[in-house]
Amino acid sequence: MDIESTEFDFENRIVSTGFTPEDSDVDYSLRPKRLDEYIGQTKVKENLKVYIEAAKKRGEPLDHVLLYGPPGLGKTTLSNIIAAEMGVNIRVTSGPAIEKQGDLAAILTNLNEGDVLFIDEIHRLSRSVEEILYPAMEDYALDIIIGQGPAARSIRIDLPRFTLIGATTRAGQMTTPLRDRFGVVLKLELYTPEELAQIIRRSAGILGVEISDDGAVELARRSRGTPRIANRLLKRVRDFAQVEGDGKINSDVVNFSLDRLEIDALGLDNIDRRMLETIIKFYDGGPVGLETLAATVGEEAITLEDVYEPYLMQIGFLSRTPRGRCVTKLAYQHLGIPMKGGASEQLNFFGEEEPIKKKKN
Ligand code: ADE
Repeated sequence: MDIESTEFDFENRIVSTGFTPEDSDVDYSLRPKRLDEYIGQTKVKENLKVYIEAAKKRGEPLDHVLLYGPPGLGKTTLSNIIAAEMGVNIRVTSGPAIEKQGDLAAILTNLNEGDVLFIDEIHRLSRSVEEILYPAMEDYALDIIIGQGPAARSIRIDLPRFTLIGATTRAGQMTTPLRDRFGVVLKLELYTPEELAQIIRRSAGILGVEISDDGAVELARRSRGTPRIANRLLKRVRDFAQVEGDGKINSDVVNFSLDRLEIDALGLDNIDRRMLETIIKFYDGGPVGLETLAATVGEEAITLEDVYEPYLMQIGFLSRTPRGRCVTKLAYQHLGIPMKGGASEQLNFFGEEEPIKKKKN
């Protein structure tokens, strides 16, 4: 095992789940606009359909909705779809962008009856802003204090009835009073490889690039359960197909391109592999506390937990125990590192024994 340092460049990963400027150009055209076009998240979708239909039948706005789950799974997309299905406008903002009570008051008073207000990263709202959100959500009213000292008085302004959609990577970090005011709470899960392959085929169709079924499946397996990554990788593979091939994508082109991008057969990049190797090398495979691990690799604990761990746990490479994080036998096998105590016959997330087709990286 060869780990030169524990300084990791977390900023420039092609498999980052964060939104990058590069994603914005075609992302918009790739986003489904209606619920029927939206692939995956079946339970969420089915329930949402009922809530939307019921609200429309009653002629009322949809109850406030909280969407939570790892980044890149389509929370913003889903919010736009909800607004489209309800036939209303959407106003998009984020927790950190609303600095003062007045900022939120201005947004709320400019909404029309039934509109959707989408607040991304809602767990990052300040306490004082949150406080004016409570009566807005509950009573469609804004309580404003006028004047100071003994002459101060509160006046109440009526607001149009609206739907707040809050999105967060961590519902646990929200205050209870805020969380409790959402009538609908929906958890988005990482996508299965089959769902991602469907998304990739759809996106390839929109981009006008030919992709074989085995190409879509191979790309899906390496997209870490995340449509944002799948679409980003699809665009890079399209580049390789056009420059190094005949413009069509098949599994050979995918393998070739992703090897060049140093993304392995399960979608892990160098950072994932080194993170796992660090736990093995410095902590004997774990358990190691999250904070300790974060300090070792130079990333915030919260980011490790929200952004990097979900996929490693989904594929069964990392487990969370009361005493800390542990690297599993599957990960040892994938990395080709012998484990004290012998081999295992465990199957990975893809139902295969490890090591799977070993790719050069
Ligand atoms: N593009 C990104 N996410 C998608 C989804 N869930 N369904 C269809 N296309 C998508």
